[in-house]
Amino acid sequence: MNIFLINGSPKGKNSNSLKLANSFIDGIKNASEKSKQTVELREATLNTMNIHSCLGCFSCWKNTLGKCCINDDMSKIIEGQLWADIIIFSFPLYFFNVPGILKNVIDRQLPMSLPFMSERTDGIGNGSHQLRYNMDNKKYVLISTCGFYTAEKNYDSVVSMFNHICGKNNFETIFCGQGELFSIKELSEKTDSYLKNVKQAGIEFASQNKITEKTKDKLKTLLFEKEVFEKMADASWGIEQNNSSESSTEKNESLIFTKQMAALYNTKNYDGKDRILEMHYTDINKTYQVILTAEGSSVIENPTTKYTTRIETPFEVWVAISRGELNGMKALITGKYKVMGDVTLMMKWGKLFG
Ligand SMILES: Cc1cc2nc3c(=O)[nH]c(=O)nc-3n(C[C@H](O)[C@H](O)[C@H](O)COP(=O)(O)O)c2cc1C
Repeated sequence: MNIFLINGSPKGKNSNSLKLANSFIDGIKNASEKSKQTVELREATLNTMNIHSCLGCFSCWKNTLGKCCINDDMSKIIEGQLWADIIIFSFPLYFFNVPGILKNVIDRQLPMSLPFMSERTDGIGNGSHQLRYNMDNKKYVLISTCGFYTAEKNYDSVVSMFNHICGKNNFETIFCGQGELFSIKELSEKTDSYLKNVKQAGIEFASQNKITEKTKDKLKTLLFEKEVFEKMADASWGIEQNNSSESSTEKNESLIFTKQMAALYNTKNYDGKDRILEMHYTDINKTYQVILTAEGSSVIENPTTKYTTRIETPFEVWVAISRGELNGMKALITGKYKVMGDVTLMMKWGKLFG
């Protein structure tokens, strides 16, 4: 089984979407190993390739028949498409469609078709061109992350475009909101469990030619609830909505981190007690208070009110704990950080902060 992965993220190997695509391919490999089928993978990382935009000259139709007049890496993409059994497009959503580098690849598909007009039978659009090559047995998969809290209703243009290109619904899709979370190590427990479902989708695709409805439903589940995600996302920029003058070099990493931690506060587990959690980062001498009430959480800089619980910790220790690199309880016992005031908050930490 030949897989051709087209990575259309301008971030190349650092792409969030690519993490999903790799898990999907792991799933295919897993299923193929069981059925003793060999899998060969070729990857095209578009951001490292030299692919120009189409010139619109139609040379590939009238002069060089099936060959583009531009001599660049696009020939490798066409080769890959013809070689593959499965073609996976991995890309971020950019302005509700594919990024420019992938759109270039799509426009440069012209040599893949013949100039002659043909009728479509799938009811998509009006007008079509015959294909130069027999692509009937190719399978297509679109894998993409986007920045909004959900993928729902944000991929209409993408689906419409690929319906025209591949034929109506002649492709599987995995579209995932909250995409930037896949780059946050502290949240890897959440994102890893999503990636497991993507891997399962790959297993099903390889063994049953489709992703089951059960797995599709799991893939539709939000990583975080809308409100929690949006609060975390807003905090991540390190700038305030009504203070656009703040320069990007003055970003306060510990404040962003504390605000993101506060965003995870789950009011559903509020136990009737308002709390003021004071975080004192000893190595950078910064103090913040996280106000926790039935309504939600907020973060205060340079606090003056008395805390209910105070945590004194080097910032790097707290980051390591939240990334799962240090065990929180062990770190407390071994004196890596101190808790003062009402220590019962620590027992409820998992429930309150998820
Ligand atoms: C120029 C640009 C346009 C974007 N447009 C959208 C958009 O229309 N909708 C959306 O939900 N996210 C949008 N995003 C966010 C990306 O889709 C999101 O960050 C994604 O996870 C990046 O994936 P990648 O790491 O695979 O490149 C946009 C990001 C950029 C830089």
